[in-house]
Amino acid sequence: MILPVYLYGEPVLRKTAKEVELTDENLSNFIADMFDTMYHAEGVGLAAPQVGKSIRVFVIDSTPYKEIYPEHEPFKGVFINPIITERFGSDFTLSEGCLSLPQISEDVVRKSDIHIEYYDEKGEFHESDINGILARIIQHEYDHLEGKVFTDNLPQIKKMVLKRKLNDIAGGKVKPAYKTKR
Ligand code: CO
Repeated sequence: MILPVYLYGEPVLRKTAKEVELTDENLSNFIADMFDTMYHAEGVGLAAPQVGKSIRVFVIDSTPYKEIYPEHEPFKGVFINPIITERFGSDFTLSEGCLSLPQISEDVVRKSDIHIEYYDEKGEFHESDINGILARIIQHEYDHLEGKVFTDNLPQIKKMVLKRKLNDIAGGKVKPAYKTKR
């Protein structure tokens, strides 16, 4: 089931999300809905707060990046109660966008590598070092669980320039092609 994507200005995007019970029987349906919603909106990642649920879950399917980066090994998966324990490597600049901030894309500097611990949809624990595009997408989605959006990471001057665009989204003036709430 496709869920509406909550846009910038919705308070849930600013909350610190709560850990979920791995035994929660609604979780697998919710994860299926998150994938449906992400594909409908043509995103490569979606965090639970973006569909109005303040819980520590995000889904990723990096397959579209295979077109731009042939060396990229596509990843599809779910991260439940993830913890990024370390961010390391070099600073790496890449243009980011977000389904909750339609029509905005900006260069964001993040670390190239992360160490992450998380559970998958079967309740299995994983810990791994991840780099490249996948580390980028994970850091973006992880921000959503912390009540942050990617423009929070921009220099002050950029934020000022974007203020009107963000106000337009929060004011309900931006209507993307996918189902939204705002
Ligand atoms: Co986002």
